[in-house]
Amino acid sequence: MNAVLESDTKNGSSTRQRRPEVSSRSGSESAEAVNASHISIQNYGFFYGPTQVLFDLNMDIPERRVTAMIGPSGCGKSTLLRNINRMNDLIPGIRHSGDILIEGMSIYDPYLEVISLRKRIGMVFQKSNPFPKSIYENIVYSLRVAGRNKKSELDETVESSLKAAALWDEVKDRLHESAFSLSGGQMQRLCIARAIANRPEILLMDEPCSALDPIATGKIEDLIEELKKEYTIIIVTHNMQQAARVSDRTAFLYMGKLIEYADTETIFMNPREQQTEAYVSGKFG
Ligand SMILES: Nc1ncnc2c1ncn2[C@@H]1O[C@H](COP(=O)(O)OP(=O)(O)OP(=O)(O)O)[C@@H](O)[C@H]1O
Ligand SMILES: [Mg+2]
Repeated sequence: MNAVLESDTKNGSSTRQRRPEVSSRSGSESAEAVNASHISIQNYGFFYGPTQVLFDLNMDIPERRVTAMIGPSGCGKSTLLRNINRMNDLIPGIRHSGDILIEGMSIYDPYLEVISLRKRIGMVFQKSNPFPKSIYENIVYSLRVAGRNKKSELDETVESSLKAAALWDEVKDRLHESAFSLSGGQMQRLCIARAIANRPEILLMDEPCSALDPIATGKIEDLIEELKKEYTIIIVTHNMQQAARVSDRTAFLYMGKLIEYADTETIFMNPREQQTEAYVSGKFG
């Protein structure tokens, strides 16, 4: 683990001593043995116009576990994440090969509506992006869009989502104030609350803590630990410490290829590939 500790330079080092061990959950129980595959990425390739950026990826992502994606800038982490809920669809000239299955069904199945796919998947971005509305309206936005306006249901969703995002106690007396009145860490938790208001199955998080200080980061990490009881979570992070702390499985991508995918403990303590070892120990990236 020392190599990981010493390599934690990207996000500053003040989170370094918080919980330095690799998550113990990942050690004794194999994720595959306990949890079925929720998302299956099969021979997946992706192109922006003529440029191929993902190459023949194969990954089975277990349900109700945290899977981290790590790798140097530009290796394709966000592209892969955004393809899982087909957020890249509107970019001209894109194409893919292979497939991504969710519970056995292709996300590209012509009978599957993209809207219904996205209802099953919540997404949280690097920079929190609340709507210019109140805290309350941010959370109920997707319900209102779906025509659900019953006050008791909206109130209940606001309370349960904010509680699940560990934000309720801090905002319960100011639900109708602007979301922009919150601190950065609170705004990010609001975005998580908004992402889970629709009760998705999957949460995709693209560097959710990179703009946050160590205390806010710790809160989000604790929250991820709680949320995985209900959700399958994929988190992209540049922070090796964070990947080691929060995830059960880790995928290391390099130049669009999946170099290694295994239990987090294996990736950090005993990787099979020399490139993985070099990256997690901070020798490049
Ligand atoms: N909309 C786009 N059009 C064309 N190329 C793109 C587009 N988005 C990303 N790319 C290219 O695809 C490759 C992968 O980018 P991606 O954003 O997925 O990397 P990343 O691993 O998330 O990087 P970072 O860690 O910097 O966020 C890069 O070469 C990038 O330039
Ligand atoms: Mg990215």
